[in-house]
Amino acid sequence: MTATYTTRFPLDKFRRLDTPFYYYDLELLRLTLATLLNEAGHDSNFKVHYAVKANANPALLRVIANAGLGADCVSGPEISRAVESGFDPAKIVYAGVGKTDREIITALDHDIFCFNVESEAELEVINQLAADRAKRARVAIRVNPDVGAHTHANITTGLAENKFGISMADLDRVIDLALNLPAIDLVGLHFHIGSQILDMTDFTALCNRINLLQERLDLRGLQLPHINVGGGLGIDYRHPERHPVPDFKAYFDTYRRHLQLRPGQTLHFEIGRAIVAQCGSLVSRVTYVKQGASKQFAILDAGMTDLIRPALYQAFHKIENISNPEAPLEAYDVVGPVCESSDVFGKDVELPATHRGDLILLRSAGAYGEIMASGYNCRPLPLSYTSDSI
Ligand code: LLP
Repeated sequence: MTATYTTRFPLDKFRRLDTPFYYYDLELLRLTLATLLNEAGHDSNFKVHYAVKANANPALLRVIANAGLGADCVSGPEISRAVESGFDPAKIVYAGVGKTDREIITALDHDIFCFNVESEAELEVINQLAADRAKRARVAIRVNPDVGAHTHANITTGLAENKFGISMADLDRVIDLALNLPAIDLVGLHFHIGSQILDMTDFTALCNRINLLQERLDLRGLQLPHINVGGGLGIDYRHPERHPVPDFKAYFDTYRRHLQLRPGQTLHFEIGRAIVAQCGSLVSRVTYVKQGASKQFAILDAGMTDLIRPALYQAFHKIENISNPEAPLEAYDVVGPVCESSDVFGKDVELPATHRGDLILLRSAGAYGEIMASGYNCRPLPLSYTSDSI
């Protein structure tokens, strides 16, 4: 089931603003959250944590926290930002292969719900820091399930060759350690196979792997209260208008159908992209149109420093000229101003005849856009506006 919704871009207001900037449609974000919560089932044993790494803009965080979601954080500063934005620390999970002592202390001070632990060394450090404070730390062991996701190699995380998690072969030993450390409460297992996943059979494969693992745990008489399956649900980058809200029903139904939870177990999700991607666009202006030997370039004032996904992953973002939507189509290479030949948003993009000063949208940029911006070439970080604040 997909909701129908069309973002309205306030062109008159955009014309008065300096570019580039991110524009977030909070109405679409609210609709996305309402759909997600409906499909997860209110008050069910499905608990959704928003993956803050996808976008930590405080305006968005407040809307997501208000909807009642928990947070999935990967650094101490993310934990602080989430708490400041209204997330309940009792719903914060904290993952990462390289948690520093200072970050672990931040998490302990906030008494977060759970650490997702990625190594034995980390487990021992968390135990020590918790014991020093006369606290107990709840942990889930991150298991590397060796399940591939059919997505870009840079965003696959659940294969044995990736740096994440503890291998199935080492799991029993790490569980023994966790059970024996005095300041550790082992409360769950954590998994994550990758990102921008649209083929539900990838998630089915993860369910099958977890079912086998739970049978192994049954044999040793161990039942953990929580299973965390990470995130990864993809979105439709090609047709943001057709699929403004991701197919949360298919996603949650896959887990309902294929994962055999034990009585009383809660199932946790860490969803980032699917919540925020479609509500965000990067808005920029054409600085120059340049005729090359064999093609023409539309050179934008936004570059890879504002949205790095095309340069880093050859990711597709739909590009639209909203100043002249009715003009006849021509092909352009749409590029940024940064001194790198990878600073390209799209090649041979069909756009209405484009001119200096036209406003250009890069759609579906709400996830891993603003948060991955850099200051390369001494460029300022992009600004942001929301439909509520513009
Ligand atoms: N949980 C864990 C352990 C993760 O590593 C990630 C994402 C998530 C949850 C959230 O995944 P999502 O629901 O957003 O797919 N910068 C890349 C994506 C990197 C994803 C990293 N981990 C991109 O722009 O495509």
